[in-house]
Parts: sequence; structure tokens; C-alpha cells
Amino acid sequence: MTTSNDGGGDVRLTGISKTYGSFTAVHPLDLTVPQGSFFALLGASGCGKTTTLRMIAGLEEPSGGSVHLGDQEVTHLPPYKRPVNTVFQSYALFPHLDIFENVAFGLRRRGIKSVKKQVESMLELVQLGEQARKKPHQLSGGQQQRVAVARALINHPKVLLLDEPLGALDLKLRRQMQLELKRIQTEVGITFVHVTHDQEEAMTMADTVAVMNAGRVEQLGSPSDLYENPTTTFVANFLGTSNLIEAEVDTRSGEDIVLRAGGGKLVLPGSRCSAPTTAGGKVLVGVRPEKISLAHADEAGAVPEGRNRITGRIADSSFIGVSTQYVIDSPVCPEFEVYAQNIDRDARLVPGAEVVLHWNPAHTFGLDAAQAIDAGTGADEAAA
Ligand SMILES: Nc1ncnc2c1ncn2[C@@H]1O[C@H](COP(=O)(O)OP(=O)(O)O)[C@@H](O)[C@H]1O
Ligand SMILES: [Mg+2]
Repeated sequence: MTTSNDGGGDVRLTGISKTYGSFTAVHPLDLTVPQGSFFALLGASGCGKTTTLRMIAGLEEPSGGSVHLGDQEVTHLPPYKRPVNTVFQSYALFPHLDIFENVAFGLRRRGIKSVKKQVESMLELVQLGEQARKKPHQLSGGQQQRVAVARALINHPKVLLLDEPLGALDLKLRRQMQLELKRIQTEVGITFVHVTHDQEEAMTMADTVAVMNAGRVEQLGSPSDLYENPTTTFVANFLGTSNLIEAEVDTRSGEDIVLRAGGGKLVLPGSRCSAPTTAGGKVLVGVRPEKISLAHADEAGAVPEGRNRITGRIADSSFIGVSTQYVIDSPVCPEFEVYAQNIDRDARLVPGAEVVLHWNPAHTFGLDAAQAIDAGTGADEAAA
């Protein structure tokens, strides 16, 4: 399948906003979605994802700002005049039409007579060639969603908008469909803007993720960049789990910042700190659970020099197969999480044991302490 390319098919939002009475659903937002990319809008329920998507589709009139598709301003165009199609969580297929006719619908409406070749190649693309003569109710949820995708793509949109398209599927099917949608996007090469509250889904599928919170984009980047270098506590807590320690800036040592926390010292690479670092100032020191090694207190002497280290006591441990997840009570952080791969397990690492946690300072990030330390915790559960 070929897509039209008039040089620069980026989706460009400039100061776009939406208010309902005195409530602001989307604060003025600048966002560029590069042509051909798989872009995810990620955030908890109610943060403004659907509203943003509907403004791109033309289903919602913005309160301010503009929408461009490539060089074309579409802010005031009705939906059907925009080179955009939307796939929703509810597939909204026509129940009385078979799969072939569901997919052919957009072509027939435009008065195109010979649809066979195009429909067949679309059904091929979503791997439903065999199902062409079935009715929607005879297909599984995942198959129906693929029909919805084929029905949208046959119109050759420049941009496909997907609003929680996998929300109605069970977990296993959702995982399969994530890979399937990613494959389809790679194959057709058009821009996908995918809305989800599921951080794993966004990370699996997207080239670029915009994390939204309360009507604003908090941070934008590749999945690994957002995970390794969160710049707000919301992103640090919403994307996976972060251990955040309140610390005080002591000195700078070359590229590194030395901090005091609970009587000990921690080292943070200056380049990974998004907070001001004047001596005596407060910083939230972050480290991901899988970056940390756990040693029984009796082995404290064997911990190599140059590692960040804190002490604590195991409060809880859960064996989950590939790893064991520990919760540690530490003077610097009440519920420190550590994920240890199950390779050689130290039988002494059980609840009640005194332990040393240590990690490579390079894996530490620093956040502005003026934010709520627990922003974003549990936000994804609330959304589910
Ligand atoms: N038509 C509307 N009138 C009033 N408030 C609305 C309307 N549509 C959405 N909202 C509010 O705007 C906020 C963002 O909604 P939405 O974009 O649907 O969030 P999300 O898709 O991230 O769950 C929510 O608080 C929602 O209640
Ligand atoms: Mg929504």
C-alpha cells in the first residue's frame, strides 16, 4: 500500500486547548507527531487524551490554538474533510454486513465500484483473508478490532487515530494485538496516534510517548528515555516503579553531585539531574528497582567501592518466577523496592533480614524536590 506524501505530513498542534465552562480539559499544548511514526498519548483516565485526539480528528472544536496536517491547516475543517480516520474501543462494525462489506464501506460510499482488489489486500494486511464472508459477531474481539483497523486504513488516511482500541480485550489478546498493530503500522508506514492508559502498551508499541497529566504533556520521549530519565515524579512513578529518596546537596565532584541522605552519601551524575543543585538544596534521588543489588548485612564488606549504598531490613518478599520482588524498610525510604533476577538466591534474604542495597551511581536520576513525591503512584490502577 502506498500513502500520499506531500513532503511533511507531520501532525502539528500549536497551543491547542479545550475548556468546558470553567474546567480546562487540555491546557494550551504544542505537540508535533512526526510523519510515519507510532506515537502514543499515555495518561490516567480523565487527563485529556481523548479530547486531544478528538481535536485532531475534528470531532471536538478547540477552545484555542491550531491543528496542522503537514502544510495544511485543518483546525476548522469538518472531520470528513480531514485525511484522518479514527478507531475506537468499540469497533462499531455494521452487524448486518459481512467482513468484506464492512471493509469496503468507505470505498463504496465514495462511489468506487471495483473494490475487490483493495479490500482483499486490506484483509490480507490484517490477516483476515479467510474471514471475508463472516459477520462481525462470528469473529473474536481481536479479529473485530482488526476489521475496524482495515476499514479505516482502506481510506488511505495520512493519520490513523486509535482511542484505547484494545481496551475491551483480555490481557493475552491485548499483548498479541499490540504486536499486530505495530506490524501493521510498520507495513503501511502511516502515522498512528494511539491513546492508552496502559504504560506497558505505550512502551511496547510507540516510537515516541507523550505522558499526559491533568491536561498537560509532562514529558515526551522514546520509551527507554522516559523510563531511564524521567524528569518529573509523576513520570517516574507512572511509568514503572521508582524509588525516590529525599536528599540534600552536599558538594559537586567533577561531573557528579554528592548528596546526603539519612547520614550516608549518594552520588548522582550531574547530567541526569533535572533539579536545581545549590549546596544545601533538596533533591529527590531516584533509582529503578531492577538496578539495585541486595546483599545480606554480613556481606557488607564485600560491596565494591564507588557504589551508592543504603542499609535496611527486608519487610516483604514475593517470588514471581523470573524475579523476586523485595520491599525494604530503610531509614532513607520507607518502602524501597528491589527486583532481583532469580539466578543464585541467597537463602538469608528473607523478611526480617538486615541488608545492604547498592547500585552503580550512573543509574541514579535526580528530580526537583518541590514536587509531590508520590505523584502518579497508583494512577494507572485508578484508570484501569
Ligand atoms: N463534553 C464534556 N463536557 C464536560 N467535561 C468533559 C467533556 N468531555 C470531557 N470532559 C472532561 O474533560 C476531562 C478529559 O476527558 P478525556 O479527554 O475524555 O480524558 P481521557 O481520555 O484522558 O480519559 C475529563 O475530566 C472529562 O470529564
Ligand atoms: Mg479517553
